[in-house]
Amino acid sequence: MSDKRKIIIDTDPGQDDAVAILLALASPELDVLGLTAVAGNVPLHLTEKNAMKICELAGKPDTKVFAGAVRPLVRQLVTAEEVHGKTGLNGPDLPEPTMKLQEQHAVDFIIETIMREQPATVTLCPLGPLTNIALAISREPRIAPRIQEIVLMGGGLFEGGNVTPTAEFNIYVDPHAADIVMKCGAPIVMMPLDVTHQALTTAKRIAALRALGTRVGVATAELLEFFERFDEDKYGTDGGPLHDPCVIAYLLKPELFKGRFINVSIETASELTMGMTVADWWGVTKREKNATYMRHVDHEGFYTLLTERLARLP
Ligand code: BDR
Ligand code: CA
Repeated sequence: MSDKRKIIIDTDPGQDDAVAILLALASPELDVLGLTAVAGNVPLHLTEKNAMKICELAGKPDTKVFAGAVRPLVRQLVTAEEVHGKTGLNGPDLPEPTMKLQEQHAVDFIIETIMREQPATVTLCPLGPLTNIALAISREPRIAPRIQEIVLMGGGLFEGGNVTPTAEFNIYVDPHAADIVMKCGAPIVMMPLDVTHQALTTAKRIAALRALGTRVGVATAELLEFFERFDEDKYGTDGGPLHDPCVIAYLLKPELFKGRFINVSIETASELTMGMTVADWWGVTKREKNATYMRHVDHEGFYTLLTERLARLP
């Protein structure tokens, strides 16, 4: 029996999703059971294709990619082409994928895998809106107590929001799904903007990735150069936040992150604050604790890990 940690990456690539996928595929401690695509940064027909492009870039065309939900549970889909470009993966010139999408629906794959594997041996890594995960939990509630951990990118408290003053993109796009996931009872670790805004893609860090001289190193530098231009203007920083790879880095080196086990509830009623992660950092309510909410990352250690791992890919 393999002692690799089994993960399913639920994703809406997205340049930062792409780097997270590359980091996972480069890491021998992880067994990537499948990638499940969801509509988010761009529509589903692009996120599913982008997921396959990244597997081929990594030289791992045998990775299973499944298509999931085309739209959020209740609200209309909101996309983010202004950040990610028209394809969602603007930057490098990646070839059209030749690998095929799996026929099974992403939600069925998630349910079947968690019910088949031993309890507490499959970790979910959501990097986009939580639609697929919420659908799986709603269709088969018996999966919730069998999930080892849900390590997700989403939310923000001290940094505020990035799509509205109070909401982070992944939660904003499908707040009803996020609400279901936050209440499901499985162990949850959150990587909010409070963490990811510390992990900046500075010019020096991108140069180190490019200097790997490999196909993946150069493509990653190009992805990040495209991705950061929007956030550099917005935040006035050297580089932009690298969100989704924080999830995978946590699986590899949890000691890079610091946070607190608190209650996090999702706003689903007010249009003004829709999708806000109401995080009880100071413990001022009696609401039950449901998530480890990260607040700090050792960003030097994070980029050292990322660069060292990506160097292992072609
Ligand atoms: C999140 O939104 C997306 O644009 C990124 O891929 C990341 O998952 C950051 O708010
Ligand atoms: Ca994402």
